[in-house]
Parts: sequence; structure tokens; C-alpha cells
Amino acid sequence: MHMTQPIRVLFVCLGNICRSPLAEAVFRHQVRERGLEGRIEIDSAGTSGYHRGSPPDRRSSETARRRGIELTGRSRSVVADDLNRFDYVIAMDAENEGALRDLLRASGGSARVHRLREWDPQPGDGDVPDPYYGGPRGFEDVHDIVERASAAFLDHVVREHGLHA
Ligand code: 4NP
Repeated sequence: MHMTQPIRVLFVCLGNICRSPLAEAVFRHQVRERGLEGRIEIDSAGTSGYHRGSPPDRRSSETARRRGIELTGRSRSVVADDLNRFDYVIAMDAENEGALRDLLRASGGSARVHRLREWDPQPGDGDVPDPYYGGPRGFEDVHDIVERASAAFLDHVVREHGLHA
């Protein structure tokens, strides 16, 4: 039984239907695999309200399901209070990160804002590409990137907070 506050992690993309629900589910799976459930709370949101209330994109869900990962939740917009409530707010691309930094300044929040691919051992241009208007291959690529980068991000969180199962 751990009496400490959970570490709170929020993943953010534009629509909260493709990339961030995937990052949320992949990260949750990796946290569970390491026996750290209960120590880390995980959610996702979008910088836009375009798809508010919608379930995850079917293409993202089906790619993930083939790999044993279930996407959950409904799209919601990121709000100023998220920058207070969450310890880490993790953007998928530079545009999301810019929007989050504006919100961080406006809210006076204390969250650490990062881009997920800062931890990717093969970071490319630093963005998780937006797969929305692309073909199925884009969703496979995004899944590979998210799996790899989020495992490395979890290593970082574990080290920074001295977590162990
Ligand atoms: P996401 O993908 O940001 O990874 O959820 C997108 C979803 C919807 C749109 C763009 C990107 N859109 O323009 O509606």
C-alpha cells in the first residue's frame, strides 16, 4: 500500500481521437506490465473541440486492438485546470506543445509540458505525425512510435520518482 499521491500524466493531441487516446492506452498497458498501476493516473485530451464526446477513431482502435491494446474514453478538450492537476502534460507534436505552453502561461499551472518524442530513441523530427488524413500505414507507424517513445518516457518517470512495483 502506497500512501503517496499518484503521479498524473495527460497525453494531448489535436482531436483526442487518434494519437492521444492511443498514447493513453499504450502507456497504461506498460504501467500495468511493470506493476505500477495505482501509482500513475493517466488521461488524454485534445487542444481542439472538433470531436468532443466522440469515441476514438476506428482506425486507431483497430490498429491497437490487433496489438492487444484497447482504446477507451471519449474526446474532451484540454482545460486550464489540467495544467494544475497533472504533473506531466505530454504533447504529440510541436503545434499541440505550443498551445499547451500558452495555456500553461495563462493558467499559472505547474505541469511539466513535454513532447512525447523527446524520449524516443529514434526521435525523427520530434513529432508524432497526425495520421487523420493519411492511410492505414500512418496508423501503424504512429503505433510503433507511441509504443517506443512511451516506454522510454515511463523509464524516465520511474527514475525521476524512484518508483518500483
Ligand atoms: P488526433 O488526430 O489529433 O491524433 O486525434 C486528428 C483528429 C481529427 C482532426 C485532426 C487530427 N481533425 O482535423 O478533425
